[in-house]
Amino acid sequence: MFASAMKSARKIAEALKRERDVHIVTHIDADGISAGAIAKKSLEREGIENTIQFVKQLDDSTIEKIRDMGKVTWFTDLGSGVISKLDGIDYIIADHHMPDIEGGKRMLNWRHFNPHVYGIDGGKAISGAGLAYLIAISINKKNKDMADLAMVGASGDLQDAASCKFEGWNRNIIEIGKEEGILDVVRDLRMFGRHTRPLYKLLQYADDPFFPGLTGRESACLSFLRRIGIDKEERKWIELEYEEKKKVVSELVKLLIAKGFGNSFSSRLVGEVCELKREKIGTELRDVKEYATLLNSTARYGYAEVGMRICMGDRDEYFKKATELLKNHRRNIVSGIQFVKKEGVQEYGMLQYFNAGNHIRDTVVGIIAGIILHSREGKNDAPIIGFANKEGGEIKASARTTAPLVNRGVDLSKAMQKVADRLGGTGGGHEMAAGATIPRGTEDEFLKMLDKEIRNQLT
Ligand code: C5P
Ligand code: ZN
Repeated sequence: MFASAMKSARKIAEALKRERDVHIVTHIDADGISAGAIAKKSLEREGIENTIQFVKQLDDSTIEKIRDMGKVTWFTDLGSGVISKLDGIDYIIADHHMPDIEGGKRMLNWRHFNPHVYGIDGGKAISGAGLAYLIAISINKKNKDMADLAMVGASGDLQDAASCKFEGWNRNIIEIGKEEGILDVVRDLRMFGRHTRPLYKLLQYADDPFFPGLTGRESACLSFLRRIGIDKEERKWIELEYEEKKKVVSELVKLLIAKGFGNSFSSRLVGEVCELKREKIGTELRDVKEYATLLNSTARYGYAEVGMRICMGDRDEYFKKATELLKNHRRNIVSGIQFVKKEGVQEYGMLQYFNAGNHIRDTVVGIIAGIILHSREGKNDAPIIGFANKEGGEIKASARTTAPLVNRGVDLSKAMQKVADRLGGTGGGHEMAAGATIPRGTEDEFLKMLDKEIRNQLT
């Protein structure tokens, strides 16, 4: 299947190489930024003029403006969900989101590069950045050196979340990256912040898995480390000796088992991590997971350009700006989680939800929903929906679920698309993570219909 995907990538690459001026439209998240940067750099290397635009979603007016530009447009990490609305645009789509149901025959068009066309799950097998990468290396072998960005995109979309390792076409990219000496994958602690967080902070902010009694409690984390004989808890995970790492892992497993969170949690403790060998050890860019978070903290606050500059190689001015944005992002996540913990998560049939109103940005409510789902506040056997107000007066709904529920038939993308559509909104995404925009005041109706859809999927 990969070979035939590469055939499609080559066809698209040939078409792009004939162009003199291309407009790139990409998604404002870590995957979208990485994808956009790959597309941009690959065009620049060929001397093809280009412009780039970051969008939250392709609504009607955005599509109209793109159509009016009259340029060849390369959509990355979006486009498939609205393929039926893109007639009249000279487009190339490199996207892994679920194609829109109305798309029909357009889906099979050679301009539409999407794993779903091959019957492959776009949530796990390949990201928007990965697809842009496959096209980029078909444009020019030189572009193989952007394998790092492709994996940042995959990580940003949590493509390794279900099995704690990368799968599908992502593995092909890892192989290329290894050959190029750009990246490496190793088995290690999966927790966020291996390179940059003091050990006790890494435990304090852990959410997948969540450590009962430790997560969220600084002093408990410090005493846990002292009790098991790990001193200098200010050290980062990467600074620990091998024996110390082993000790921490085994004590965390013991803790999970003692608290009754045996296998399902402890099996998530260690897994595949992807490291970028050209980046400095101990920075936010060495581990793809941290890199992706850095990008998210630019894009989700309106500074996608800053993230893109980092992907394009800036390690000075823009990198500094991004680390400031990262601090702000962390504060927002912490206060968002606190808000949900205080307000509580409500149950609704097969679902659970919270309504953040204006307390959480619509661009981060999905991240919070994911964290809450894996924490003690959330049940881990029900999809979670987070609502937040959008600027224009509409409501953003973000849905997240777990791998076991997806295995039992849950497909949030289909459900959200269908329900949002009926309410006059738009929705879509992946089986495990999807979003929607709906008219204000329709939240109850939305929950009712979504609950019904999810029940149908489970039977
Ligand atoms: O916004 P949120 O983080 O909840 O989105 C989850 C996933 O669903 C993302 O991949 C996003 O691109 C996708 N999505 C979509 N259509 C929407 C909203 C979100 O495809 N209207
Ligand atoms: Zn993506």
